[in-house]
Amino acid sequence: MKLHSLIIVATILFCGVAFAQQPIIIKFSHVVSVDTPKGKAADFFALKAAEMTKGRVKVEVYPNSQLYKDKEEMEALQIGSVQMLAPSLAKFGPLGVKEFEVFDLPFIFDGYESLRKITLGPLGQQLLGKLDKTGIKGLAYWDNGFKSFSANTPIKSPADMKGKKFRIQSSKVLEEEIRSLGGLPQVMAFSEVYQALQTGVVDGTENPISNLYTQKMHEVQKHLTLTEHGYLGYAVIVNKKFWDGLPADIRKQLDDAMEQATRYANQIAKVENDQALEGVKKSGKTQVYVPTKEERLAFKMALVPVHQKMESRIGKELIQSVYKEINFSPSKL
Ligand code: LMR
Repeated sequence: MKLHSLIIVATILFCGVAFAQQPIIIKFSHVVSVDTPKGKAADFFALKAAEMTKGRVKVEVYPNSQLYKDKEEMEALQIGSVQMLAPSLAKFGPLGVKEFEVFDLPFIFDGYESLRKITLGPLGQQLLGKLDKTGIKGLAYWDNGFKSFSANTPIKSPADMKGKKFRIQSSKVLEEEIRSLGGLPQVMAFSEVYQALQTGVVDGTENPISNLYTQKMHEVQKHLTLTEHGYLGYAVIVNKKFWDGLPADIRKQLDDAMEQATRYANQIAKVENDQALEGVKKSGKTQVYVPTKEERLAFKMALVPVHQKMESRIGKELIQSVYKEINFSPSKL
């Protein structure tokens, strides 16, 4: 073979190998800090994905709304600018999948155990399936935790919330929740909350402590009441066309990596929130109040009627199925 033919053959071979070695990139965008249950689980998934696909997939995690804010990230996923997200279950209404707002119903879950009967059971799977029509595929649920109210004034009863502006996620159930307490709900992207609290655009907010602490919201909120009145968790979702187009062996390896990441996420969620609460207490910037049984009951009485009010939005049947699965009765408070 002549020299130039050899060079051509070598070039073709080299390009072929180089091409075969180009990893598949998955851009995973999220809005919270890396030091949260979701942030840590996303990084864990990236590690596992690289390990299990032997480097054929590279997951690039973009935390802290670095790439997109709440609403934009959903759009970016649908058009394929990113491939993976884990939005809170309270953010699927604008996509037209209102049923996820069942997770926002106040006081419906009394802990992680009852919640997991849904997220790890058939109802949870059924709900993920509802995303298919939007060009999105739901892979898993990841836990965060239970939300508490914070503000610059003490909150011990629903009356303390009257006329105050509270930042919420884009869920109609949460809107109704704040209204039922006499407050004024204000939908806002997560990345804007710290500044809104600092400048007084809103008076208070609700979030699991891991989010409050890692966004330093406790530095601009004088009072935190551990109401734990509602749940905040995530659905890990992918662009369906991208996912279905992956080679079957890679998809299987990624499914396995996701299973491990889900176990990890659910294992660390409570610990992360407990540690964040310790951090808040230690900072001395926020007064942490634990409501008495009676005080918590007053919030329950005011908020459980939200379930019935939201029946036409979420579906009465779905709410009843969840009640049955977790043995909840609105008349037994
Ligand atoms: C929020 O917007 O408060 C949360 O959904 C943020 C998150 O992703 O945990």
